[in-house]
Amino acid sequence: MKKVRWGVIGCGGIADRRTLPGMMKAENAELVAVMDVNPDFANKCKEKYGAKYCFTDEASLLALDEIDAVYIATPVFCHKKQAFAAAEAGKHIFLEKPVGLDVEEAKEIASFCEKKGVKLGVGFVMRFHSFHRQMKEIIASGKLGDVVSARAQFTCWYPEMPGVWRQDRSKSGGGALMDMGVHCVDLIRFITGLEITEVSGMVGNQVFKYGVEDAGAMLMRLSNGATAYVDANFNIPDDAAVCKLEIYGTKGSFFCEGTIAQDEAGTAILRASDDSAGYDASQSRSSAETVSLTGGGGNLYTKEVEAFGKAVLGECDIPVPALDAILSQQAVEAAYRSSASGAVVKL
Ligand SMILES: NC(=O)c1ccc[n+]([C@@H]2O[C@H](COP(=O)([O-])OP(=O)(O)OC[C@H]3O[C@@H](n4cnc5c(N)ncnc54)[C@H](O)[C@@H]3O)[C@@H](O)[C@H]2O)c1
Repeated sequence: MKKVRWGVIGCGGIADRRTLPGMMKAENAELVAVMDVNPDFANKCKEKYGAKYCFTDEASLLALDEIDAVYIATPVFCHKKQAFAAAEAGKHIFLEKPVGLDVEEAKEIASFCEKKGVKLGVGFVMRFHSFHRQMKEIIASGKLGDVVSARAQFTCWYPEMPGVWRQDRSKSGGGALMDMGVHCVDLIRFITGLEITEVSGMVGNQVFKYGVEDAGAMLMRLSNGATAYVDANFNIPDDAAVCKLEIYGTKGSFFCEGTIAQDEAGTAILRASDDSAGYDASQSRSSAETVSLTGGGGNLYTKEVEAFGKAVLGECDIPVPALDAILSQQAVEAAYRSSASGAVVKL
């Protein structure tokens, strides 16, 4: 089997926790080099994952002819510089979300990669959960009827830590909504196949007083007229949240718990009903056919690395192209503008 030879830029955070372990199991991936500004992280990952090289500067990694593609998993404020350098060096790029500090920067990255003829994919890993893929297919088949409403929630407990890049808007581009809520927005777009046309947002700092919001909520209009709601919190204890995802249509609904996560876990229940045929004054809820989706339990990170690898090898389209990912970031940015102005923002 043909393999993609990978370099990893920023190997000490999500790369070490999730993506590198996932990459190790990807059939079409070969790890060649790792790089981190922190030499301890670079050395540790070289040993742990059997990379041939480790570096503390990206130029040395990008100079290697032995590398076809890079995975960039650095703080968001580093994405533009490193993506431009990788594109200039002719390497395909798998870039962590959000693409850039803001939509304008994200678009600059996407156009530069296009100009240089390198493929740019984005790490919206939750699109690879088999339940989310099944839900997308079932909705496309018409079994849920017209989507009329969607809700998604992603939270964690993230207290103040001085000097941390995620708590500084100039380094992260945003807080709970941009870091976590953007996954929810992206999943709603991916699963329903609908685009966001209007956004109303509220963000604030209720518990933690750092430089990004510790909680935010978005109310959205989807392109078929449906409404959608996303909330993301840095101030809910991990054990207190189940990260629900709900999609309702005129013929049924999906109700998921714990699928918005870094593991391919949780439950997804389909309730299909023919109630739309007529009005039932008693609003009986007992006739729905209930099915639990099955087939989870894989490694999301292996799947996303393999899928981008296939695109690099010319075997398929880019699984999450940058211009698609940017639409999810654009909706979150609109929520920030709406929160500041108090007005609904049209996209
Ligand atoms: N898809 C997901 O599941 C997921 C989860 C977490 C984070 N992320 C994204 O991954 C990216 C990194 O987040 P994180 O949580 O791993 O952050 P982190 O701070 O935990 O780790 C970032 C790593 O990058 C290194 N680094 C910092 N500046 C660097 C530079 N200039 N060059 C090279 N390395 C540098 C740090 O030393 C650290 O090892 C962000 O874009 C974030 O949104 C995605």
